[in-house]
Formats: sequence, C-alpha cells, structure tokens
Amino acid sequence: MLAALDLKEEILALKKARNAVILAHNYQTGDIQDVADYVGDSLGLAYHAKATDADVIVFCGVHFMAETAKIVNPGKIVVLPDADAGCSLEQSCPAPQLEAFLKANAEKNYYVIAYINCSGGVKALCDVICTSGNAVKIVNQAPADRPILFVPDENLGAWVIEQTGRKMDLWKGNCYVHVEFTRDSINRIKAEFPDALVVAHPECPQAVRLLADEVCSTEKMITFCKNAPVKDIIVVTESGMLHRLRKECPDKNLIPGPTDRCACADCRYMKMNTMQKLRDCLDTLQPRVEMEESLRARAEVPLLRMLEQSK
Ligand code: 13P
Ligand code: SF4
Repeated sequence: MLAALDLKEEILALKKARNAVILAHNYQTGDIQDVADYVGDSLGLAYHAKATDADVIVFCGVHFMAETAKIVNPGKIVVLPDADAGCSLEQSCPAPQLEAFLKANAEKNYYVIAYINCSGGVKALCDVICTSGNAVKIVNQAPADRPILFVPDENLGAWVIEQTGRKMDLWKGNCYVHVEFTRDSINRIKAEFPDALVVAHPECPQAVRLLADEVCSTEKMITFCKNAPVKDIIVVTESGMLHRLRKECPDKNLIPGPTDRCACADCRYMKMNTMQKLRDCLDTLQPRVEMEESLRARAEVPLLRMLEQSK
C-alpha cells in the first residue's frame, strides 16, 4: 500500500519536474486513470493532445493514440509507458496493403476514411480520420459524388452505414476484444438483470449492437449512464471503462458485459501500461514516439480535417 502511494507521489513529482501532462484512455487501469490529468476517449484525447502547452506528453493508451499526439505535436516529446502496446485494428490494416489496394482500384477514386485506430502510415493515405465518437458526423460530410472506403474496422463501418444510410466499402479488420461479445453472452447477462439497459461500443458485432439500447463511444457512455432512468446498466466494452463509470455514476449498478469465456473483456494492449512503467517513462523520457517528418506531415492533414469537421 505504501509502495503504491510512493509510486503515485513519485509520478506526480516527476510530472511537475518535466512539465509533463498525463493523458489516459478510458481503458487504462484505475490507478493510472486516477493519476492522469485527463481521461477520455480517442476524440477527447486527440483534442487535449493538440491543445496542451506541456513540454512532454505522457500517453497512457496504445501506440496509435500516442502517435496521434505526436502527429499534432511534432515539437514535443511524446512517450508511452510500454512501446509494445499495439492494437489489433491497427495490425489488421498495414499501410503497404492499403496502398496496394488503392493502386489496384485507382479508377474508383475512393474517398478514404480511416478510423483513428490505425498507423501513421495508414493515416497518411487517407482523406479524413474519424473516431467512434464522431464517425457518423464525419461520414455525413464526405463528398456525395465519391465512393467511400472505410478502414480498418468493419463493425464500426457497418454501424455507421446503418446510422447514415451512406454506402461504404469496408476493410475487413476488427477489434479482437469487442468481437468476443456474442448474442448469447449478452442475452445471458440480460436474463440475470431483466430491468437493465445495455450500452455497447460500435466495435461490437451487429448481433450484439442489436441488443443494445445505446451504441456509442466510451466518452458518450458516461453521459448515457449518468442520464439513464434505471439503476442497472450492462456495459459492453473493455473492462477499464467500469472504473470511470463507477466514479462518475456512483448511484448506478454498472455491470460488465461478459464474453462466452470471461465475466468481462480486457484489452491486453491497454493493460501493458503499469504505474511502474509510467514512473519510469517520466524519469527516462523513453520510450519515445518518433516519426519521419514527411510521413508525419502527410498524416497530419486528415487528422486536422477531422478535428475541424468534428467541431
Ligand atoms: P473510443 O474512441 O470510444 O474511446 O474507443 C477506442 C478504442 O480503442 C475502442 O476499442
Ligand atoms: Fe485496439 Fe480493441 Fe484494444 Fe481498442 S480494445 S485498443 S480497438 S485491440
């Protein structure tokens, strides 16, 4: 207990000494969320990364999120506690594969929309970026006279098609965490809590989304749960979300959505960051996120377009 308190004190002291800001995604462990300056979804984190005047950004999330912070802050030091914290969606769409696909289909003149869960190389090939929090808004602003290619999440893409009525070609990628939820696993927990509402992330498969009362980004889940007229709410997303929800909605009974194998779902990448690694990266300013300048500049264009279109 004392060691954990010491670690927290050390993190706060190092943060001050480095003039650093700690940004954390809603899926980080509770202790990391509690020491962060800002906790939020990918969209909120991108805005905060753009707005900060700190010298150092410590990004407690996965690599593509820290890379996004670097893209909009080339002059700042950006570190993430564990450089191996990746994402199955990012892995499902390697930039050379997307480039080859676009070349092979050049006659289509695709307007390419990339979910932010992708590499800087993929961002550089796209027209605009979106997050789960603004995907509907961004797709609604796509030019009407061009076909859309949506990469890399086929589930988020399918949900956006349902919401907008806009036809899109979908890359076949998915989040390995959210595809673990099934119709059966959610129906079982609904049977246990018959009065509960269900909120699910749009990375879930359609069979799960159809069981949800609300489908939304992690940040919008906070508002949904705060305003829900019932006590029991089943939360169908990564387990880290429960920490913030329980803090912000103490009057609610927040129930983790189960998979067929587990009582809740953890993202192994998000959970690679620990308080010890957070302390160490503030101390050594390593591992750093670095990007070759011409790639960074190309990736910045669709990101800034997103921030503009999302206002
Ligand atoms: P949010 O943008 O909703 O926080 O989602 C990010 C993510 O990685 C979901 O798996
Ligand atoms: Fe990627 Fe899924 Fe983990 Fe989110 S939960 S970071 S989409 S693997």
